[in-house]
Amino acid sequence: MSADPTLFYDCHVFCCTNVRPENHPRGSCARKNSVELRDYMKNKAKALGLKGVRINTAGCLDRCELGPTMVIYPGGIWYRYTSQADVDEILDVYVKQGGWVERLMLKPEDGPAKRAE
Ligand code: FES
Repeated sequence: MSADPTLFYDCHVFCCTNVRPENHPRGSCARKNSVELRDYMKNKAKALGLKGVRINTAGCLDRCELGPTMVIYPGGIWYRYTSQADVDEILDVYVKQGGWVERLMLKPEDGPAKRAE
């Protein structure tokens, strides 16, 4: 077996900015301030001079009820974030130091249930 390929980004963040109608039963991340928080995260990462870090917009990540959601690779760690302070902590603890922000992490059992293949 060959070695894993070299990563293009050391840390690749996907922030859901999907928007649904106001009373949609699943809700949507954009109605919970994800666009503004994504913009804040992009600007903060740039201001901190973080190298090899990319903050991207994502469509629905299908965990809408738990949003706003982001998932970060490598590792596929999911977070729910609701404030600039949450974003600051994710950038500081996870992106810069390689630790986990346990209080904000979404675990597989948090739902929604995985769909059958
Ligand atoms: S709307 Fe954000 S995960 Fe679906």
